[in-house]
Amino acid sequence: MKIAAYGCREDEIKYFEELKKRPDLKLITTTEHLSPDNVNLAQGAKGVSIEGLCRASCETLEKLYDIGVRFLSTRTVGYNNIDVDAAREIGIRCSNVSYSPYSVAEYTVLLMLASIRKFIHLMARSAVLDYSLRGMQGKELRNMTVGIIGMGRIGKAVARCLSGFGCRLIAYTPHPDEESGRLADMVAMDKLYEQADIISLHTPLKNSNYHMINSDTISRMKDGVIIINTARGELIDTEALINAVDSGKVSAVGIDTFENERNVIHIDHEAELIHNRNMLALKAYPNVIVSPHAAYYTDQASKDMVYCSIDGLASWISGGENENEIK
Ligand code: COI
Repeated sequence: MKIAAYGCREDEIKYFEELKKRPDLKLITTTEHLSPDNVNLAQGAKGVSIEGLCRASCETLEKLYDIGVRFLSTRTVGYNNIDVDAAREIGIRCSNVSYSPYSVAEYTVLLMLASIRKFIHLMARSAVLDYSLRGMQGKELRNMTVGIIGMGRIGKAVARCLSGFGCRLIAYTPHPDEESGRLADMVAMDKLYEQADIISLHTPLKNSNYHMINSDTISRMKDGVIIINTARGELIDTEALINAVDSGKVSAVGIDTFENERNVIHIDHEAELIHNRNMLALKAYPNVIVSPHAAYYTDQASKDMVYCSIDGLASWISGGENENEIK
C-alpha cells in the first residue's frame, strides 16, 4: 500500500526511515508542505499524512480525491489545518494523532512556573550582570487556583503534572468524565473565569470558540490573572490580551502559540522582518513569554506523531479501523 507523507521534519525522518522498512508499505516522504500545486506527489497513494503547517483546503482535498486519495491524517492533535467539512463531503476520511500529552503538559507547567517566578525577566537581568531582585518577587503555586479549560488528554496530563504542587485545580470541559472529576473540581466556565489565578487553554480550535478569550471574558477574570496558551493562538483575541496586559488586568502571559503564526514559527527570521505586529507588541512586555510553538517538541512526541499517523492510515487502507478518526 502506498502512503505519501508531506512536510516531513528533520526530527521525524528517522522514524519514517524505520517505517520504510515495512514490506507492506510504500512510503513516499517529502519536506514540501501539502498544497494544491504538489498533490501529484501522492499519485497512486490511498493515504496522505501531513504536518501541522500543511493546509488541507477544499481545493487540495478535491485534487487529492481525484488522484485516488481516500484517507488523510494530520500528524498533530489539533486539526484546524484540515477543512474537515469539505473532506466529509468529498469522501476523504480524516484522522489526527495522539502523541505523548506530557510533551505539551510539562511545557505548560514550565510556562506557568516561569510566569509566576518572572524567570525570563530575571534571566535577562542576570545576562547584563544585574543580580538585583527589585520587582522580582514571585508567587507559590500552592497558594493559587489553576483553571484548566479542556480536559482531553493534554488537559488531564497538565492536571496530573500539577497535582504535586498543591495548588487548587478547577477545570471546565464540555463532556466531563470520571477521571476529570478526580483530577480537578469541575466548574462552569463562568466560575472558572471568576476563581482562577492562572487560566490554561487546552481545547481544540473550533468556529464556536474562536476568540473565546476576549475583552468580555477577560473582564470577568480575577485582577492579575495569568493566561497560558499551548493550544491554538486563535482562541485568544490578541488585541484584547495586549490591552489587558497593558492595563495590568492580566499580570503575566505564557503563550506557545499566537494568531497568524504560520509564517513566523519554526523559521529563522534573524535577518528578516516578522510581519505580525500583535505578536511583536505582545512579546515586548517583560511579563509576557512568547515561544515558537515548541511545546509538542520532544523525542517521544516526534516518534508518536509519525507512527500514529502512518499506522492509522495503514490500518484504514487495509480495511481496519483508525481510532483517531475525526468524527
Ligand atoms: C498539535 O499537535 O496540535 C500541535 O500543535 C503541534 C504542532 C506541530 C502543530
